Amino acid sequence: MSASSSPVPSTLAIVLAAGLGTRMKSDRPKVMHEVGGLPLVGHVLKAVQAADVGRAAVVIGPGMEDLEKLVEGISPSASCHIQEERLGTAHAVRAAEAAYRDAPDHILVLLGDAPLVSPETIQRVKARLEDGADVVVLGFEAADPFGYGRLIKEGERLVAIREERDASNPEKAITLCNSGIMAFRGTQFSDLVSAIGNENAKGEFYLTDAIGIAHARGLRLETETAPEWEVQGINTRGQLAAVEAVFQNLARERVMASGVSLIAPETVFFSHDTRLEPDVTVEPNVVFAPGVAVEAGARIRAFSHLEGAHVAAGATVGPYARLRPGARIGETAHIGNFVEIKNASIEAGAKVNHLSYIGDARVGAKANVGAGTITCNYDGFLKHHTDIGAGAFIGSNATLVAPVSIGDGAYTAAGSVITEDVAADALALGRSRQSEKPGRAAKIRDRLAREKKARQKG
Ligand code: UD1
Ligand code: CA
Repeated sequence: MSASSSPVPSTLAIVLAAGLGTRMKSDRPKVMHEVGGLPLVGHVLKAVQAADVGRAAVVIGPGMEDLEKLVEGISPSASCHIQEERLGTAHAVRAAEAAYRDAPDHILVLLGDAPLVSPETIQRVKARLEDGADVVVLGFEAADPFGYGRLIKEGERLVAIREERDASNPEKAITLCNSGIMAFRGTQFSDLVSAIGNENAKGEFYLTDAIGIAHARGLRLETETAPEWEVQGINTRGQLAAVEAVFQNLARERVMASGVSLIAPETVFFSHDTRLEPDVTVEPNVVFAPGVAVEAGARIRAFSHLEGAHVAAGATVGPYARLRPGARIGETAHIGNFVEIKNASIEAGAKVNHLSYIGDARVGAKANVGAGTITCNYDGFLKHHTDIGAGAFIGSNATLVAPVSIGDGAYTAAGSVITEDVAADALALGRSRQSEKPGRAAKIRDRLAREKKARQKG
């Protein structure tokens, strides 16, 4: 480093996630409710990470171990701070004092219940500090401002934020609202936050009061804006569903732009981590739960549900298929209707076309599994493995009692219960032999007809 270069400014991002969200009427902390299969606060942490603005400090409530684990999984370098009582957003910020005491150059505050904020927007807010602002508030024009803090301006200058319950009627008419994302100069932050009181309708310490205080101190306040869909917060189940809808529309647009065909995009649902390669086709009414990757040219047919699954190039899944965690579908393999695959690899070119359950298994390359085949993988205590060799042919309605292995190229007869290993290229029959009584059907028919007639008389 040369003597003249100035050090890169250090930034701390404080994410508030301790609130109970009582209006959700839930046992789960609000920020652990999910959008796109990921808890709300997980989206915020991922955006902070992608914005690459510095370290994160997350304020959580007591007993929120799941939340702590989530934070660790997404941002291992983040620190968690417990807010023992929920006394408002400024009180929550103070719980992270250990993280900001050493006065980083910039402090960003984000809310854990507004999940769709983009990394670019976070960077934009931070850049305003670098351009000389002391405090930056990210605002948005709300279609319905009810419940949000309103940005109070004198001319072009931001002078305060007023919370819903404390707003006068003219203030309630203001539609420019606080997204909850703010940025502060590190040297001023601690002072501002400790000056906040709780003399308001809710008796809470509002972080938004920092704006009025900063104005009174003559600091330079600026606003940045974002579209409402990106910053809308979640306080109710209705808002959760509304944000989910936005997330899904964004995901649909993104995958189509990347070269995937969606025949009826509005009926396909994605998770935060769904990965589809170009030239995948997704038919209507498909759900991608977390952990799915689909390679180029594969087709996911209508009404299928996939979770924790990998589908290789050119494979076909569905209609009406269910891929559960650990399903690995090989190149050009076929998984057909009413088939469930769990923790099993279906190797290249293999076919499981109708009404089957394949769990804890391997189906070798080009093997054919007949309709109605079931792997009996569970004995009530333990799971056991079924191995089906390459090119094997499993006759329809087979019951494969695991642990069991069927050699390469072997046949099993339709309707068999297979309890023992089958050697390569052997034919296994596990069913009783058919016998025939000539003329017996006609005799039975005559007897039953006589009995019916006798009853009708008597
Ligand atoms: C807050 C803002 C409001 C803004 C809106 C945007 C305040 C006082 N109000 O209102 O101006 O328009 O967000 O969505 O800041 N939290 C804690 N501890 C607490 C209280 C809250 O950690 O004691 C966390 C919550 O988990 C949540 C976030 O802070 O993630 C926001 O709290 P919430 O109660 O949802 O605030 P709003 O009333 O929505
Ligand atoms: Ca909120």
